[in-house]
Amino acid sequence: MRAIVLVGFMGAGKTSVGQALAARLSWSFEDLDRRIELREGKTIAEIFRDSGEAAFRNAERKGLSELLEELRSGPRRVIALGGGAFIQQSNFELIRAAKIPTIFLDAEVDELWRRCRRESAETSVERPLLTAAADFNGLYEKRRPYYLRASMRYVTDGKTVAQIAAELIEALGLPASEK
Ligand code: S3P
Repeated sequence: MRAIVLVGFMGAGKTSVGQALAARLSWSFEDLDRRIELREGKTIAEIFRDSGEAAFRNAERKGLSELLEELRSGPRRVIALGGGAFIQQSNFELIRAAKIPTIFLDAEVDELWRRCRRESAETSVERPLLTAAADFNGLYEKRRPYYLRASMRYVTDGKTVAQIAAELIEALGLPASEK
């Protein structure tokens, strides 16, 4: 297993769980949004503002294919995707062709909304698609069937990041600190 990909809606904990998982496995951690920001020299919010969502999706697809290419020779990685990446058919197919296991981090939509609101109050992270609660719920419902195409679904409600990471390692049959 060269990599694990975490998918799910905004607020699912893809980045924090991904970091914890990578630390326990002694693998590298890769956040696709961060890669896009470095590649484009702009924040995700700036890309949306200056060039629109379609341009962001383009950059996302390029970033993902570049990253999957690097997996052939680079270190093992835990990869966190942005909330819309797995919805795009081309990205889904790239990941499937690379035979990388995908984990859908799921939670009640109210909980996802609360986490995102809390995060935007406490940090400078701007989520262009975090608008009204009704739109957030609608987008979640629309995307859920796509997330369910992941190889595994894991419900995060009421669990700590450390617990989630430990349980996922067990579920994947990976020994912690495997090199
Ligand atoms: C998006 C989610 C964001 C980021 C971008 C678009 C989405 O990532 O990729 O704002 O379409 O749901 P997070 O899921 O990490 O917030």
